Amino acid sequence: MSAALKSVAGGGSPSPRHFLELMDLDAATLRRMLDLGVQAKRGQVPGKPLAGKSVALIFEKPSTRTRVSFEVGIRQLGGDAIVLSSKDMQLGRGETPADTARVLSRYADAIMLRTDNVAKIRELAEHATIPVINGLTDVSHPCQLMADIMTFEEHRGPIAGQVVAWTGDGNNVAQSFIQAAARFGFTLRLATPPELAPPGALIAWARAEGAKIELTTDPHAAVAGARCVVTDTWVSMSDETAQEKLNRHNLLAPYQVNDALLKHAAPDAIVMHCLPAHRGEEITDAVMDGPQSVVFDEAENRLHAQKGVLLWALGLA
Ligand code: CP
Ligand code: NVA
Repeated sequence: MSAALKSVAGGGSPSPRHFLELMDLDAATLRRMLDLGVQAKRGQVPGKPLAGKSVALIFEKPSTRTRVSFEVGIRQLGGDAIVLSSKDMQLGRGETPADTARVLSRYADAIMLRTDNVAKIRELAEHATIPVINGLTDVSHPCQLMADIMTFEEHRGPIAGQVVAWTGDGNNVAQSFIQAAARFGFTLRLATPPELAPPGALIAWARAEGAKIELTTDPHAAVAGARCVVTDTWVSMSDETAQEKLNRHNLLAPYQVNDALLKHAAPDAIVMHCLPAHRGEEITDAVMDGPQSVVFDEAENRLHAQKGVLLWALGLA
């Protein structure tokens, strides 16, 4: 099993409730968090449960949704958010994630990290005595998936047994979709160029957990009859060299979500994209702004779903 698949959850003394990978948590725990997020959205979380709590939000990479939804969500729950760029921290000039974790654990009540290297969040979590939340790594984006499941279920009811199609890069968000398929019981069809397929070890893990994962290189085959079509940028934050960009644009052009592709999906299929979108690349304006798109509900649901994650991680519900 690869380092990226190794869980740090569990172990000797009582572990903080880290939210690192969906695969680390069982289906009932994830469902509970999602229910809490739905309650928060409905205004059914009374009082200010995070009063007196501080959450450090550390960004090694840019962010709009993750930064603002966490900061606003923490404030709405009565807590304080401390937004930190690693460039402004000693972490950015060589202090180890382990020492950063030890120090922040003396000040704050939880840490959220966005990083380009999953090894850093694993080291942070191994040494933190407070919960660590994954705000995106090069191999995963579990907060996004909590919002995506919430969004699907708001629009189309329970996701278990439904068919979701991914077309594009087998990137960090795709890899969290694979983990979500195992935990939430939907069929996931992924169409990617062979060069950009998700890791075989992750597929093997998901299938061993009972997930229905179908891999293809044909976006039409993936989308056929699906209730949800999902895509993401062709160039993620961790692959931004010029050569990488050029290769990816060439490889991924046939995987664009456009009207012609969407016609192959179920007539009531919804379209999701975690955003930011590169309009005219992985998704057309017509689809993004069309009647089947739920991308802005999905963005909103980051706020609500993460409240569920925070309440669970801090043991407040
Ligand atoms: N979807 C998402 O995580 O967006 P940001 O990069 O803006 O946080
Ligand atoms: N796959 C994208 C997701 C951005 C939220 C990236 O990593 O850049």
